[in-house]
Amino acid sequence: MELLEAIKKRRSVRSFKKEDVGEEDVNKMLQSACLAPTAGNVQPWKFVVVKNPKVKKDLAVSALNQLWMTEAPLIIVACADLNRAERFYGERGRTLYAVQDTAAAIQNILLTAASLGLAGCWVGAFSEARVIKTLDLSPGVRPLALIPLGYPNESPKPSYRFSLEEVVTLIE
Ligand SMILES: Cc1cc2nc3c(=O)[nH]c(=O)nc-3n(C[C@H](O)[C@H](O)[C@H](O)COP(=O)(O)O)c2cc1C
Repeated sequence: MELLEAIKKRRSVRSFKKEDVGEEDVNKMLQSACLAPTAGNVQPWKFVVVKNPKVKKDLAVSALNQLWMTEAPLIIVACADLNRAERFYGERGRTLYAVQDTAAAIQNILLTAASLGLAGCWVGAFSEARVIKTLDLSPGVRPLALIPLGYPNESPKPSYRFSLEEVVTLIE
């Protein structure tokens, strides 16, 4: 699929078929995450792939009870490795680059999912403390997004976007 097509096709999907996602496709999504640009190529991220039903449920409860997440055959938890970014870039690395870098990786996961006929949703509303505890994350590893992924069981309409006139300033 062309990149632009995947960008246009991607929707946040919150209902999934029971069908499992093949290991090859999971790896493609993770590989594409790791191809995202990062400040100084520091790659300050960690990914946790959760398939265990009990752990998925715990994550969904952590995410303000968004229980639809448990329908997904897997949830990728995208984490920023704050200490690694700080080692290279100090405070700016810790508070900005690590978050930007990991966000770029998250978008790559979602676009690759779309290109493979899969779908997911970027879930950002969750208790970080609880997710850290559930996944036993190391100090400095900050979970930024829970990404339930699977074969879509719904086809949401395109969501509203501002027009370019509303968000673009041209300086010639
Ligand atoms: C940082 C961030 C946090 C989000 N958190 C949630 C969430 O907790 N639950 C949810 O259902 N969707 C969440 N979303 C998905 C947005 O609601 C969705 O991207 C937006 O409505 C646009 O729809 P679209 O993704 O289909 O284009 C989040 C998206 C982002 C980027």
